[in-house]
Amino acid sequence: MEGAIVCDGVSFSYPNGARALERVGLSVTPGEFVSLIGPSGCGKSTLLRLVADTLRPEEGRVTIDGAPPRGARTARRIGMVFQEPALLPWRRTAANVELPLELGGRRDGAGHARALELLERVGLGEYAGRLPAQLSGGQRQRVSLARALIADPEVLLMDEPFGALDQITRDEMNRVLLRVWEATRITVLFVTHSIAEAVYLSDRVAVFNGRPGTIRSIIPITLPRPRLPEVRRAEEFFGLETRVLTALEGSPEPGSRAAGGAATPADSVGASRAGTGR
Ligand SMILES: Nc1ncnc2c1ncn2[C@@H]1O[C@H](COP(=O)(O)OP(=O)(O)OP(=O)(O)O)[C@@H](O)[C@H]1O
Ligand SMILES: [Mg+2]
Repeated sequence: MEGAIVCDGVSFSYPNGARALERVGLSVTPGEFVSLIGPSGCGKSTLLRLVADTLRPEEGRVTIDGAPPRGARTARRIGMVFQEPALLPWRRTAANVELPLELGGRRDGAGHARALELLERVGLGEYAGRLPAQLSGGQRQRVSLARALIADPEVLLMDEPFGALDQITRDEMNRVLLRVWEATRITVLFVTHSIAEAVYLSDRVAVFNGRPGTIRSIIPITLPRPRLPEVRRAEEFFGLETRVLTALEGSPEPGSRAAGGAATPADSVGASRAGTGR
């Protein structure tokens, strides 16, 4: 299985001199779901852009499956979902989903069938012929998720994808995303401001702080999979939310690692995997 993301000692400054990231270290295993959480301006979107190869690190290295992310980007092995779905308003739902195939010169009957299958999977089977203006915000975001998956990427980068949705729609989107992820086992890097969302979805939550941003701690989410909605009422869930909140507020987690530091057992892949029961 592919889709390993490694950020090693990554620092980045924007051309105006603004230092956005300082020696960030993060290693995501194939098929893992990792959330990034932290205060506004701490560099979460910047890290996603570095993984997506729309920015290059100033220091350190970003790799996907051991190689610079450029290869993954040009092969369309990276899917992206942003807060705003950015659909082409004149194209019907299915044609919006097919867009990445078309850009890659691969639009054909099989691509269309795949688009319909993905729309089904995100619960929009009956909406293939609608225009974006005829969809709700949550439905548009489902289209955007289907579009991100059309080229069978190994890595899915999501930047506050559900941040603009109301709580009920957001919960529903979380369930849709979990279902899709469980079926595809794609590697996901997910930026959110919601602690509950991060805990509910993730194998691990990376807590950022400061400006420039560093990773303060990485918290393994030891809830069983598949995650059922009821888990959000479990004692263990509240305990994990509190751990993330405490890390956000500033006390480094014992057993977690700071940026650039050495990995400790709590942060090792083995520990997080064992905890997720996968
Ligand atoms: N194009 C840019 N040019 C200059 N500085 C930028 C640019 N984009 C972001 N920054 C700065 O880099 C820092 C990190 O920004 P980034 O967008 O990565 O933060 P973020 O963690 O995603 O914040 P938010 O939670 O608000 O989305 C911020 O201080 C921001 O002002
Ligand atoms: Mg951002």
